[in-house]
Amino acid sequence: MTAVDSNLHALDLLVGAEAGFAMSVLDSSPDCIKLIEMDGRVSFMNSNGMCAMEIADFADIQDQPWPSLWPAESHRLLDNAMAGAREGRICSFEAFCPTARGTPRWWHVTVSPVRGPRGQVDRILASSRDITESVTARKLLEEQARTLAQEVALKDAAIARQNVLMGEIDHRVKNSFASVIALLRMQARLHSSGEAGALLGDAANRIATLARVHEQLHLDPGANELPLLDYVRVLALDLGQALNGLIQLDLDADSVPVRPAQAAAIGQILAELIGNAVKHGGVTRQVLIRIRLTFPGDQMRLTVEDDGPGLPQGFDVAQGTGLGMQICQVYAEQMNGQFRHGKSDLGGALFRVELRLDPVADGPA
Ligand SMILES: Nc1ncnc2c1ncn2[C@@H]1O[C@H](COP(=O)(O)OP(=O)(O)O)[C@@H](O)[C@H]1O
Ligand SMILES: [Mg+2]
Repeated sequence: MTAVDSNLHALDLLVGAEAGFAMSVLDSSPDCIKLIEMDGRVSFMNSNGMCAMEIADFADIQDQPWPSLWPAESHRLLDNAMAGAREGRICSFEAFCPTARGTPRWWHVTVSPVRGPRGQVDRILASSRDITESVTARKLLEEQARTLAQEVALKDAAIARQNVLMGEIDHRVKNSFASVIALLRMQARLHSSGEAGALLGDAANRIATLARVHEQLHLDPGANELPLLDYVRVLALDLGQALNGLIQLDLDADSVPVRPAQAAAIGQILAELIGNAVKHGGVTRQVLIRIRLTFPGDQMRLTVEDDGPGLPQGFDVAQGTGLGMQICQVYAEQMNGQFRHGKSDLGGALFRVELRLDPVADGPA
C-alpha cells in the first residue's frame, strides 16, 4: 500500500510543474498503475503497466472504460471498487484478467481516490500487481489437497466396507459356533447314559471355549495385532467365571503385540489348561488357578498351575489319550515352542508353554 500512497503524491504533482518527476516515479513502480477518470475512462497507464498488460500502444486503450479491459465476470468487483474510491475509500480485490495478447494473469488490484487541491476526489488510481505465480501455486496446492481428500475418502469408505464385512463374518462364525454347540449338547442328552454322551458333552464344551477365544479375538475386527496381555487377562477371567475356577493373574507389565492367529493358538492352549485345572483339580471344591505370563529373553512363557491333587504318577503327555494335552502340544510345536508339565508349589499340576512370538507385520493381516 505504501507504493500506492507515494504514487498518490506523485499524481498530485502531475497537474503541476513537476509532471516529469511524477511520471518517472510512476514508471519506476513494478505494478501496473492506471489513472481513471470519474466516469471510469482510462486516462493514463505507466510504462511497466503497459508491459505487464502486453499493450503495445497506449492509444489502444486510452479513454476506454476501465472495465472493458476486463472479463465480464470481474466487472462487479471493478464497479464496486470504483464506487468506493469515488466516496474516498481505498478498496482492493483479486481477479483474473488476460493481457492484451491473451496471456492468462491474476492481479491484486488496489483502487484509491486521487484528491484535488480542495480535497475532493476527482480521479481514481488503480494499481494492479501481477500475482499469477502465487495464485497458480495456491491453485495447484488446493487441487492437490482436493485429490488427497478424495483419496482419503475413498480409503475410508473401503475400510468402512471391510469393517462391515468383518463384522458380518464374525456374526456368522458366532452363529455357527452356537448351532454346533446346541447340536452337540442335544446329542449328548440323547446319549446321556453312555460314554458317547460324556464325549459329546466334552466336545460341546470345547467348542464353547473355542467360541470364547474367537470372541475375544474379534473385538476389533480388521486389527492385524492385539495386545497379548489384555487378551490373556480377559480370556482367563471369562473362562474362570464360566467354569467356576478361581483365577489368580500374574502378568508381566509390558504389553506385547501379537498376531491374531498366534493369539488364537495361545488362547486355545490357555482354555484347555484352565479347563483341565477345573476338571481334574477341583472336583469337589473351587480350584485356584494361577496364570503367569512373562517374557524372559525374547521368549514368551505362559504358566498355568492349580492347587488340585496334581498329575497322576508317571504322567506322560505323549502317552495320554486325552485331546486337551494333544491340542496343547500340537499348537506349541506349530509355533516352534515347548510344552512342559510338572508339580506346582500350589500343590497341583503345573503346565508351561514357552515360545518365541512372531514379529507383528506392519501391513494389513
Ligand atoms: N490340572 C490337572 N490336574 C490333574 N491332572 C491333570 C490336569 N490336567 C491334565 N491332567 C491329566 O492329564 C490327562 C489328560 O488331559 P487331557 O488331554 O486334557 O484329557 P481330558 O481332560 O479329556 O482327560 C487327564 O485325564 C488328567 O489325568
Ligand atoms: Mg482336558
